[in-house]
Amino acid sequence: MNKELVIVIDFGGQYNQLVARRVRECSVYCEIYSYKTDLAKIKAMNPKGIILTGGPSSCYEEGAATCSRELFELGIPVLGLCYGAQLMTHVLGGKVERAAVREYGKTEVKVDNTSPLFNGVTEHTICWMSHFDYIAKMAEGFRAVAVTDNCPVAAAECAERKLYAIQFHPEVLHTVEGSKMLYNFVRGICGCRGDWRMDSFVEEQVKAIRAKVGNGRVLCALSGGVDSSVAAVLLSKAVGEQLTCVFVDHGLLRKNEGDEVEAVFGPAGSYKLNFIRVNAQERFYEKLAGVSEPERKRKIIGEEFIRVFEEEARKIGAVDFLVQGTIYPDVVESGLGGESAVIKSHHNVGGLPDCVDFKEIIEPLRNLFKDEVRKVGLELGIPEHLVFRQPFPGPGLGIRIIGEVTAEKVKIVQDADAIYREEIANAGLDRSINQYFAALTNMRSVGVMGDERTYDYAIALRAVNTMDFMTAESAQLPWEVLQKVTSRIINEVSHVNRVLYDVTSKPPGTIEFE
Ligand code: XMP
Repeated sequence: MNKELVIVIDFGGQYNQLVARRVRECSVYCEIYSYKTDLAKIKAMNPKGIILTGGPSSCYEEGAATCSRELFELGIPVLGLCYGAQLMTHVLGGKVERAAVREYGKTEVKVDNTSPLFNGVTEHTICWMSHFDYIAKMAEGFRAVAVTDNCPVAAAECAERKLYAIQFHPEVLHTVEGSKMLYNFVRGICGCRGDWRMDSFVEEQVKAIRAKVGNGRVLCALSGGVDSSVAAVLLSKAVGEQLTCVFVDHGLLRKNEGDEVEAVFGPAGSYKLNFIRVNAQERFYEKLAGVSEPERKRKIIGEEFIRVFEEEARKIGAVDFLVQGTIYPDVVESGLGGESAVIKSHHNVGGLPDCVDFKEIIEPLRNLFKDEVRKVGLELGIPEHLVFRQPFPGPGLGIRIIGEVTAEKVKIVQDADAIYREEIANAGLDRSINQYFAALTNMRSVGVMGDERTYDYAIALRAVNTMDFMTAESAQLPWEVLQKVTSRIINEVSHVNRVLYDVTSKPPGTIEFE
């Protein structure tokens, strides 16, 4: 898998995972390492290219994240982005200073097409700028190859040493031709052939897992979500019946979901693995009785999940390996991965390892993004309805029922959500909206049905479009679809007399309600 490797060195910028993703879009495998990683280790990996990311510091300040001069003397092409560009300049003897005004947002950049970095790029192109410091004097041997009205060195190169510095962010979509620039670096300047594919990922992983596991026993917590399903199938392909999957039905899944997961992974499905379904609904409802505070609910669900899993694991006895479907954004969001700030800690990361007797964790998807995980899933022949399943939070419907969770409320939200999903699919919108679901508000209001007064719950519908789930826009659903869903929910789901559509974006809202 690592035949052709590009290394991204993380200086704490916001977009680091995007850099890695863009490189992999060029069919080149890529991994991210902290700027604190030993130079010897980086050298030993024999990368075809190195990319230095953005970061929040000023490179000339004491204690700022830095790198050694030798990094630029390895003969390996280096591309510095934003902070990375400034750091390259600073370390190689140029001058970086604070500008009078911050340059921020979409900015027209004039590029010099004779630079291999800008091969095929339009001369005047829109790029995303976000910097206070700027390159006041280039390091020796460099020439400017891009400028803006406010920035004399928007990009610089020292072609004979294959060193490149870009002040803007080619990795974000706002930089219209950014992907082309990164392609030029990785495939052109670094000379990568682009031999990385998802099928080679599967092959290499299967080989690596077999070598690691040997005759050992492997345990996997299967949620039925995309990540854990792909991890489980990858493992089953590698070690077959040495794998046991435990699927905990916490009673907070969507309608019929437990049976759907069992149909795919259980004895009637096509995988030869040991599958254990634990129907723990009642236990979860008991623990959640009377609890309405969102964080308490999350905690209770997370902890109870671990207890149930632990009990099952004990029955199985000692295992050698535990599989987790951790993917790259989980690693970053939980602050386990790199230099960027912790955004939030997810229920499914870091919870299990302490409680089960095992030797090692296997995380085969740790370096992949969601869409890459989906490609692996398709490669493995997992049914499309599972592969393209929209994200579903670990605490499940527990955080889509505002206030106290009861079995009755779970049934209401399951039924409403199933209707909503069905109608979205009927309208052909299921692949184009990133996440959509029904939630049960804690609000009851007066209505009239037939000649009767009603006093029932309101269902809230949510649909969002988002690139990264960190920010999101409310989707503009066709009015006819909303009307149809509303009338079906009111007619078919007892105890609901009102349907509301949430038009809040994130921020200020979050995608989930709790
Ligand atoms: P929020 O509500 O924070 O959600 O805007 C962003 C994305 O994360 C999902 N989400 C979770 N996923 N465990 C998960 O595995 C959780 O505790 C959790 N909370 C939110 C949410 O569905 C959305 O896709």
